[in-house]
Amino acid sequence: MFPNKFPDWHPESLTAHSGVGHDPVYGAISTPVYQTVTYQHPGSELGAYDYSRTENPTRHAAQEAINRLEKGAGTLLYTSGMAAITVLVQTLEQGDHVLVTEDAYGGTYRIMVDVFSKFGISSNMVNTRDLNQVAEHLGPKTRLVIVETPSNPLLRISPLRELADLVHAHNAELAVDNTFMTAIRQRPLELGADYAVYSATKYLAGHNDVMAGAIVCKTEDQYQRLNDFTNATGSALGPWDAWLLLRGLKTLAIRMDRQESNARTIARFLSEHDSVRTVYYPELAEDSARTLHMGQALGYGAMLSFLLKEPDRYIALMDRLKIILPAVSLGGVESLITHPYNETHREIPEPMRRHLGIIPGLMRLSVGIEHIDDLLNDLSDALRG
Ligand SMILES: Cc1ncc(COP(=O)(O)O)c(C=O)c1O
Repeated sequence: MFPNKFPDWHPESLTAHSGVGHDPVYGAISTPVYQTVTYQHPGSELGAYDYSRTENPTRHAAQEAINRLEKGAGTLLYTSGMAAITVLVQTLEQGDHVLVTEDAYGGTYRIMVDVFSKFGISSNMVNTRDLNQVAEHLGPKTRLVIVETPSNPLLRISPLRELADLVHAHNAELAVDNTFMTAIRQRPLELGADYAVYSATKYLAGHNDVMAGAIVCKTEDQYQRLNDFTNATGSALGPWDAWLLLRGLKTLAIRMDRQESNARTIARFLSEHDSVRTVYYPELAEDSARTLHMGQALGYGAMLSFLLKEPDRYIALMDRLKIILPAVSLGGVESLITHPYNETHREIPEPMRRHLGIIPGLMRLSVGIEHIDDLLNDLSDALRG
């Protein structure tokens, strides 16, 4: 189903050809939306497709496109990023234990604490930049470590190769939430991870018009186990959403280039601005973090955060911005700004938010593809006065 041989193409070519070659009847360049639940059997035997919860040709094309990019053994698509992360944890057993990067997306924190604790799966949020701290929390029951690097929203960098070695030495698996970087900028499986996990709602789809999640597996066994589980539980992505994801994927590489180039310019602009205390962006991080990041990634990405000198000014800033829209979510073509303290990370208890540096006045910016001059003017006007 997922061919082992990948064409020796660059990611730009692979993404542009997402979904090409999946219409054996008419040769349509764009994979059709196979809006069907069931499939007529060719005879008394089942055909290649049987029932759309199990497999659907449009979803299959999107899974294959992501899998090729990531060079995985198999990829599964879900109704959202949270559905994907949920499946990873649901395949564990009662009594198992999970470690999660402490400043991971707030929703990941929420399912571990509010949902899985009720089913006997315990968790700890740890500083995954610190291998000693990770080692201290890895116990005999730890089965899974979920890492975000760069993290959300402070863009902190965890060492993926070292984490993979440490986690494997304890017979656990490493999942990397690669939503911010995508395979265009960082390939967790090549760095030793077992799974690359995505909110495909963000950069992979890229247009703020579809929710999706993905798990890319390193081995055939992992893929088969998750595929069986997904077929049994039923949170696989529907055909229309898979098609929207496929269409978005075609431009992923050029979107990342443009968004990253805009983000680098904005990060420098903000770092010199009188109203800004600190900018969080991998390119502007201290030497050790920047070097670590560039040893495992191919660019800095298009997410950045900044701390206002006067925290209360975040309300005026969000009111005044015209092109950059105040909204949660990220990774789309439109630039979006959020105030993580009371938006994306509000699920995290206040003392922990403060401990992590998620404080009032910290803004997270998802930089889009607009003209850089318009973005700079917008920020300059909104930060004035
Ligand atoms: C890094 C990260 N992972 C996972 C998720 C959850 O994805 P979704 O909203 O598609 O469920 C998000 C959502 O913002 C995210 O930012």
